[in-house]
Amino acid sequence: METITLTESLVRLIDQRKLPAELTYLECEHYREVAQAIKDMAVRGAPAIGVAAAFGLVQAVRQAVQRELPEAELVRCFQEAADTLAATRPTAVNLFWAIERMTAKLRSVRGKGGDRILKALEAEARSIQAEDVAMNRRIGEYGARLIKDGWGVLTHCNAGALATAGYGTALGVIRAAHESGKSIHVYVDETRPLLQGARLTAWEMVQEGIPATLITDNMAGHFMQRGKINFVVVGADRIAANGDVANKIGTYTVAVLAREHGIPFYVAAPSSTVDLKLKTGADIPIEERSPSEVTAWGGKAVAPEGIAVANPAFDVTPARLVTGIITDRGIIYPPYDVNLARAFGAAKEA
Ligand code: MRU
Repeated sequence: METITLTESLVRLIDQRKLPAELTYLECEHYREVAQAIKDMAVRGAPAIGVAAAFGLVQAVRQAVQRELPEAELVRCFQEAADTLAATRPTAVNLFWAIERMTAKLRSVRGKGGDRILKALEAEARSIQAEDVAMNRRIGEYGARLIKDGWGVLTHCNAGALATAGYGTALGVIRAAHESGKSIHVYVDETRPLLQGARLTAWEMVQEGIPATLITDNMAGHFMQRGKINFVVVGADRIAANGDVANKIGTYTVAVLAREHGIPFYVAAPSSTVDLKLKTGADIPIEERSPSEVTAWGGKAVAPEGIAVANPAFDVTPARLVTGIITDRGIIYPPYDVNLARAFGAAKEA
């Protein structure tokens, strides 16, 4: 299953808003449609929106080449697309990382003419996609070793194939443990308000035949107390230099519960999620989404009109609650400030 594909004229995305009822694809003909798809969460998940943005940039440049615009104009089109795509969702750093990588590639091929620039950007975007799958496979390998046969594993939101270019991060760990023959049982938090757990993670588990139980978010403590959960693994949207982790709203609550019950709490994320420019999680911008996501479901009101609503899409789990961060470069343990800089410092700056 490919979450996102780039064809000669289209960026083709699984429309995640329609799952699990239908597996349909959204075909974007213009980078503005890609930006809208990211905003509306037709495509979502930190690495997936990075790949979608990279493909949107290729589309912008391809259209400039087709219009035979001079190179300076082509660069202007690229910049306009980059600004539009960057303004969609603020929290996941993978989006900005992918745009920066594409911008650096453009800089390196300027002066070579439209066709060469387009070729180079398309190759770069396809590498971003392929590298993401490869990183997820490595995350899976490292993470699966932490999980013992017979364990119950809880996850929050969807950090699966759908949220990435393929295989998934937190679900990559779960997939790899299952593929290695371990008998595990996954507890899937439904993940209010948009139900990424119920709609997407549960769907991926059913597709793959991985034994799983869907629970509402407020049941996690109960199952931990009853000894059903031995391990927690979640994804991340941004990891600050000190190891604080932004992820889907409710992740912090799960981390606190895990600490209370002495359950290991791991975060699985690729290099593209680490943001050493931010010292702590307090610096991570948290997206506030529409109140209607909380007050209605499926077009039906579930709250009275006139009620004030808060809808932060993410929260920050302090580093002290994180047992370890499973990355494509191995598992990072505290002290995170030292160990994240050691693993990602030089490469990030290169
Ligand atoms: O708002 P979403 O659905 O884009 O949030 C997704 C998450 O919080 C994921 O856990 C995170 O992006 C990691 S995906 C590998």
